[in-house]
Amino acid sequence: PKITFIEHDGTPHEVDAEAGMTLMEAAVRNMVPGIEADCGGACACATCHVYVDKAWLEKTGERGEMEEDMLDFAFDVHDNSRLSCQVTLTDDLDGLVVKVPEKQF
Ligand code: FES
Repeated sequence: PKITFIEHDGTPHEVDAEAGMTLMEAAVRNMVPGIEADCGGACACATCHVYVDKAWLEKTGERGEMEEDMLDFAFDVHDNSRLSCQVTLTDDLDGLVVKVPEKQF
């Protein structure tokens, strides 16, 4: 699926991802600025925080329990906040748009 990450300043990064990888991996592999992912996807750092475009909330699903707890440590959490390492990409998510927060903590 193609994913668009939008930086805090509005700069878009469209990346080609593969189904089965996480949203965080898609960002890191394509060097999208602002996604730090310090823990490497273990849901233990909250530095892979993104905002899911409202139109995509249903398709990206619900936060997990661990994710919910880790989000307490993230900066400026909104209703559409997710930890990108906890979102697994599928072909259904082709066109997904997410925003990167101003900072990760
Ligand atoms: Fe650490 Fe997602 S990469 S919580």
